[in-house]
Amino acid sequence: MGLICVDKLEKYYSNSRLLAVKNLNFTIEKGEFVSIVGPFGCGKTSILNIIGGIIDDYKGSIMINGESPSEARKKRKIGYCFQKPNLLPWLSVLDNILLPQKIANIREGNEKAIELLKMVGLKDYALMEPYNLSGGMQQLVSITRSLILDPEILLLDEPLSSIDEINRSKMQLKLLEIHKKTKKTTVMITHSINEAVFLSDKIIILTPRPATIKKIVEVTFLQRNEMTMFSKRFIRYVKIIKEELINGQDN
Ligand SMILES: Nc1ncnc2c1ncn2[C@@H]1O[C@H](COP(=O)(O)OP(=O)(O)OP(=O)(O)O)[C@@H](O)[C@H]1O
Ligand SMILES: [Mg+2]
Repeated sequence: MGLICVDKLEKYYSNSRLLAVKNLNFTIEKGEFVSIVGPFGCGKTSILNIIGGIIDDYKGSIMINGESPSEARKKRKIGYCFQKPNLLPWLSVLDNILLPQKIANIREGNEKAIELLKMVGLKDYALMEPYNLSGGMQQLVSITRSLILDPEILLLDEPLSSIDEINRSKMQLKLLEIHKKTKKTTVMITHSINEAVFLSDKIIILTPRPATIKKIVEVTFLQRNEMTMFSKRFIRYVKIIKEELINGQDN
């Protein structure tokens, strides 16, 4: 059985009388990196918010290791990284990363945060305020912050969408490295097919709203590095996913 089991999920927003998600079924295994791709407004963030226990009014079932998402969230098993870094400008990078510990009233030292900053290559920025960092680095701080309570699951909503292409490639390598080192089960929303193929073990392709599964593609490479994106295998995966998204629009 998977770590995250989604069964006949449906989300209806009664205030806007809008069906965002319909009959959604999938499972995610422990340690997997899964991307969710789909057209604008199809329901991706709604799905992530439900998995993350932020929205708890839905139909169908979601089980995370046998628990509901809100139970898992209360036990701090889920790290959530929003599309914007949401750093507090008056706190140092280090204090921003320590914030979830403070909010949860956990009395621990800085060691873990420093360790994480080392891992992502931002240790030298620990005492600076966020405005000294580029947008990409701020996003990396935000991803680092979502790891501080050592969650089992990492949820990322378009984490690299506001970063230029060259730095985005660097950040994708960082995400790959974070995943290799932490082995966290990761669910990422992205509009970049290349990014999804490069990082994921599995890609969930959604239809236009109401989101339902168009196709799930398993992605395997012998290894992933800077050259992977130029391989025939990579280009073949990109083509398959693009075609699914294009003919999903016509339905
Ligand atoms: N709190 C809400 N109340 C009412 N309707 C909402 C709410 N949140 C989202 N919606 C609607 O649900 C639909 C799906 O929204 P969602 O944010 O999940 O899409 P998305 O796939 O993440 O979009 P994008 O690619 O633009 O980020 C949209 O039509 C949106 O307007
Ligand atoms: Mg969204």
